[in-house]
Amino acid sequence: MSDIESIIEWYLLSGVEDFCADEPMNALHTADSPKTIKPAAPENNAVRPAITPLSQINMAACRNAEELCRKAQTLDDLKAMVESFEGCPLKFSANSTVFGYGNPQAEVFIIGEAPGSDEDRVGEPFVGRSGQLLTKMLQTIGLDRHDCYITNVLPWRPPGNRTPTDEEVVTCLPFLKKQIELVSPKIIFILGRSAANTLLDNSENISSLRGHFIDYTTETGKVIPTLSSFHPAYLLRTTSQKAKSWSDLLRLKRKLEEI
Ligand code: URA
Repeated sequence: MSDIESIIEWYLLSGVEDFCADEPMNALHTADSPKTIKPAAPENNAVRPAITPLSQINMAACRNAEELCRKAQTLDDLKAMVESFEGCPLKFSANSTVFGYGNPQAEVFIIGEAPGSDEDRVGEPFVGRSGQLLTKMLQTIGLDRHDCYITNVLPWRPPGNRTPTDEEVVTCLPFLKKQIELVSPKIIFILGRSAANTLLDNSENISSLRGHFIDYTTETGKVIPTLSSFHPAYLLRTTSQKAKSWSDLLRLKRKLEEI
């Protein structure tokens, strides 16, 4: 499928069916033009600005998670360990442990923030409205959701979908890092600011992070390129950012063909 066909399909899948301007616009060309970038609306009113210094966090649970991760040889081992882990209070308010899903040898590793209510009910990441949009986004660049590995920073839903606390994130981070190590993907696609700040250990907003390849180095020293982009939940609310999201998808596709 050509880039033009894919972008038309992407707009139709996103619910954009009408023309709203007299003059045609080349979305492939203007999506990233510095002249067209306006100050971004906050992606989420309650974003966590940066990870609290580790010294201020109760590290016992985190060390416990790290210890478990050292013992895990496979994703199945790790899944069983996460399911029996009791160091994160979110577990006790959630219905399910939502561990990563997909191809254990995937080339593309996708990270979101935390399960929502649909994911908590089904026990699988990205199965609700955001997940449906994610599946379609991947399809437009020829990727099948089942061929990727999809996970979240947190394996449990924060009550009422509230923003995860630093303590919850730091406690569960070893599980995410170990999944990356075990899958050993070619590329990591990060959805949204919260997941990007967590994995890349920075506090940049998503508008400056998105579209750039930033290397992530695993505990075993493997360097994996990451690409951050908008979270599908944000795209569902903010259709004006879809052109940029589309250009990120094309970047992901090109990079995969290259490496
Ligand atoms: N949002 C996320 O970040 N992850 C999910 O699994 C679902 C929605």
